[in-house]
This record gives sequence, C-alpha cells and structure tokens, in this order.
Amino acid sequence: MSQRTYCMIKPDAVARGLVGRIVTRFEEAGLTIERLELGLVTPEQAAANYAEHQEKPFYEGLVAYITSGPVVKLVLSGPGAVVVVRKLMGVTNPKDAAPGTIRGDFGLTLDANIVHGSDSPESAEREIEIFFS
Ligand code: RTP
Ligand code: MG
Repeated sequence: MSQRTYCMIKPDAVARGLVGRIVTRFEEAGLTIERLELGLVTPEQAAANYAEHQEKPFYEGLVAYITSGPVVKLVLSGPGAVVVVRKLMGVTNPKDAAPGTIRGDFGLTLDANIVHGSDSPESAEREIEIFFS
C-alpha cells in the first residue's frame, strides 16, 4: 500500500546546488513526488517540526540552522516511503553514514546533514500538515 512521507533538503544542501542530485535519488528509487516547493521555514514551523527536541542542548542551533536559508520541501509517496527515504538518507551523522547514502555522500557534519525525513507514518502526516497546510 502506498504511503506518504515528508522530506526536506536542508539549507546548506540547497546553497551547494545539490537539489537535483538528491531529488534524482528519490525518483530513481521509484518514489513519486507529490509536492515540491522551495522556500523558507518559519520559526513556528521549525518549532513544531522539532518539538521532540525542545529540551535538547542542540535545539536552538537546530532551529537557527533550518531557518537560515531556503529549503526544498517534498512530499514523497510509494510503498514503505517512510523507511525507504530514511534508508536512502543514511544515519543521522554523515561521518557514520554509509557511502551510497545521501548523507554519506554529500555531508560532513551532524548539524548540516543535508536532508530531513519523517521517522514514522504518524510523523509524516504531522509534518506534511505543518509544511503544506
Ligand atoms: P532529521 O530529523 O533531521 O531527519 O534527522 P534524524 O531523524 O536522523 O535525527 P534527529 O534525532 O531527529 O535529530 C534532528 C537533527 O538534529 C541534529 N542533531 N544534533 N548535536 C547533536 O547531538 C545532534 N543530534 C541531532 C541533526 O542535524 C539532526 O538531523
Ligand atoms: Mg528526526
């Protein structure tokens, strides 16, 4: 059964001109692009998206970073889309992410880790509402 997920190409990756190559990976995997939009993340959207991290020491920096420049917001769909996108992204820290994954191939640091992807179908629906309502 088809599933939706929310994905975001983060400011550094947009500034570095990596949008086409990252979107191509999702297309090559067979995912369908349902929505695609370039724009800024508002502080309210950042706070809602990262609510689970509010008490963490890296929270302020995370919100400052994600609102620092244009991002590409995507809704992707396909069978198992949530897990498929997380697999294509690689693990959170680019230095641990396997070659062949988006973070492993394009990222170097934990804060500028290239992409965001929803971590569950429930998060996906919540995040799509935050960014595309
Ligand atoms: P994301 O939400 O961005 O898709 O990343 P994720 O699920 O792989 O990782 P998550 O635990 O949700 O963390 C969200 C973002 O916060 C930054 N982070 N910094 N300094 C730190 O210890 C730390 N831990 C996480 C990362 O940029 C991560 O993408
Ligand atoms: Mg997360």
